[in-house]
Amino acid sequence: MLTITELTEKINRHLAELQFTRQPQGLYDPVAYVLSLGGKRIRPLLMLMAYNLYREDVERIFPQATGIEVYHNYTLLHDDLMDKADRRRGKPTVHKVWNENTAILSGDAMLVLAYQFMAQCPAEKLKEVMDLFSLTALEICEGQQMDMDFETRKDVTEAEYIEMIRLKTSVLLSCSLKMGALLAGASDDDAQHLYDFGIRLGLAFQLKDDLLDVYGNPEVFGKNIGGDILCNKKTYLLIKAFELADPAQRQALEKWMDADTHAPEEKISAVTALYDEIGVKARCEALMETYADQARASLEAVSVSAQRKAELTALMEKLMHREV
Ligand code: IPE
Ligand code: IPE
Ligand code: MG
Ligand code: MG
Ligand code: MG
Repeated sequence: MLTITELTEKINRHLAELQFTRQPQGLYDPVAYVLSLGGKRIRPLLMLMAYNLYREDVERIFPQATGIEVYHNYTLLHDDLMDKADRRRGKPTVHKVWNENTAILSGDAMLVLAYQFMAQCPAEKLKEVMDLFSLTALEICEGQQMDMDFETRKDVTEAEYIEMIRLKTSVLLSCSLKMGALLAGASDDDAQHLYDFGIRLGLAFQLKDDLLDVYGNPEVFGKNIGGDILCNKKTYLLIKAFELADPAQRQALEKWMDADTHAPEEKISAVTALYDEIGVKARCEALMETYADQARASLEAVSVSAQRKAELTALMEKLMHREV
């Protein structure tokens, strides 16, 4: 059985060796660029870790692990365009280095490449793997559409927010884990428990992402701080702030929602100050803990020794306390 570090090194080495030799370069250079910037690689890691609960020959599923990371990076190209985000992983985003059309088309190519990698799987697993991947990819589009729709609404509920992040973020972590289990020949029950673990881990993960977008250290976070505030993203922080605000605070929040963003820094610091006054950071951290507890319960139900599952628990702890 391999550790998180060993698996991360293996998948990083494999991804670094990928060659995109087709032409034109204008299409493939951005693909190589975004993949070279690294990132945490948690989706391929989760797939390999789930597989490694049952089998040792992790190299056998490198094509699917590669496919899931290429797919994730494709979502980032389009997401950064949709979110007007100029920085990712400490570097300018593809639409900044090149242009918007490049981010769209290189992203499209990455989606197709992801399908090609996924399909490099044993014939007897092919249908199940492709069905799982396609449903997941569709759900992510649905979550992303909800995320966009919510920007112009002021009445988004906590339940709607949780459903939106389940779709845009959790299902990809779940899909990674379940695919690892499927490819390893795990039982349907175990595959489902790992899927549930991924959903709950993903909810905590996106709550942390939303927190870091406001409170992260700009030196290490790699993305611009305050991007969600500028887009009026309906994060848990904003939804809770509206819910717990007194009338004056609510009025101030509404004013900032309606303000045009001539002075982005001013809006970011004013909304952050309201979050601090209202005390929503601690609420968000408490909800993360709730989902982490639920995730632990799902993992416990997987019929593998606690010792073999320790690495997945450790990864979750690491992600809960991450700065990037
Ligand atoms: C970013 O994902 C998109 C979200 C779901 C929050 P990651 O935080 O996994 O990004 P990288 O791959 O490590 O850069
Ligand atoms: C992540 O949402 C969801 C997807 C990329 C599909 P965010 O928009 O919060 O992700 P970041 O913060 O840009 O990484
Ligand atoms: Mg974004
Ligand atoms: Mg987004
Ligand atoms: Mg974010």
